[in-house]
Amino acid sequence: MAMSAAHGEDSPYFAGWRAYDEDPYDPITNPQGVIQMGLAENQVSFDLLEEYMREHPEASDCGAGFRENALFQDYHGLKSFRKVTAGALRAAYDEAVAAGTRVRGVLITNPSNPLGTTAARGVLEGILDFVARHDMHLISDEIYSGSVFAAPDLVSVAELVDERDRARGGAADAEDIARRVHVVYSLSKDLGLPGFRIGVVYSYNDAVVAAARRMSSFTLVSSQTQRTLAAMLSDAAFAAAYVRSNRDRLRERHARAVAGLRRAGVACLRGANAGLFVWVDMRRLLGDGEATVAGELRLWRRVVAEAKLNISPGSSCHCREPGWFRVCFANMSLETLDVALHRLGCFIKKWEQEQHEN
Ligand SMILES: Cc1ncc(COP(=O)(O)O)c(C=O)c1O
Repeated sequence: MAMSAAHGEDSPYFAGWRAYDEDPYDPITNPQGVIQMGLAENQVSFDLLEEYMREHPEASDCGAGFRENALFQDYHGLKSFRKVTAGALRAAYDEAVAAGTRVRGVLITNPSNPLGTTAARGVLEGILDFVARHDMHLISDEIYSGSVFAAPDLVSVAELVDERDRARGGAADAEDIARRVHVVYSLSKDLGLPGFRIGVVYSYNDAVVAAARRMSSFTLVSSQTQRTLAAMLSDAAFAAAYVRSNRDRLRERHARAVAGLRRAGVACLRGANAGLFVWVDMRRLLGDGEATVAGELRLWRRVVAEAKLNISPGSSCHCREPGWFRVCFANMSLETLDVALHRLGCFIKKWEQEQHEN
């Protein structure tokens, strides 16, 4: 990752971020500034988290648990925190990867980033059979699992592994599947806390757990952060209310973004039911000779410079078809979202006028 050009300072991802950093939008002090729509951040329910913290100072109080927090902790993470996240993920694995095996894996993101869709049960079953047939591992990134705002609900590969295990009564082929499947998750999207750096690897696979535990010597989430989140998430009433509000708000934002983009003359991928973003089809703006990555980046540069919106060109998400863009709608207020959609509408009108004149 450190060497990859796709993640380098010159990539559109970081160039757009820089444009925002140098001239950030503020409705009062900088209304012409750049609006950040390139980061999949979830700020729609911050008020609920802030309210919880206000009402439960003991959850983050350094005084009460200071000594416990300050000393070395179990490199698995705190038991209280593991228990609540394990309960939420309900996944199941088995058996260690044989020492010396070269791991080859399929990585999926479910719900999908950038499409915002959940994978159908049948598709996941097919992937499980595929990895078993080809002696591979499956890493399922389910970081957006709490962002499903419309049916169908998420089916985790962990549930399928569990079902196969139950159906076959722990038979060897069910165990073989379990040891190949790894779910990764974090609270960066569901709780909108990427700054807290809370990630989870859920596995019954001893080799994977052992490797993660050894690595955690460098990357362990601080005790204080774990204690705060454990208190917050084990408050059943708060957790249920948060999940419900967060989903309702994401559904509302999504509908608003889709409608605003439609008014601006561009469509989004149909059937998206999850995520913090829409996958926007701007292919027709590229014109015949411009349906290339270079054409897409030319359009993107003008969106950043003229509409002052940082959105992500599809090529930065490895999309092979030029003209698609990822637009995040969850990291700003509704008012700012409306400003952004209005700006995009004006930009597209101007762009089309120019095309017409040429
Ligand atoms: C699919 C996916 N996985 C993982 C991450 C990384 O999240 P974090 O490192 O904050 O847990 C992101 C963040 O953008 C993401 O979109």
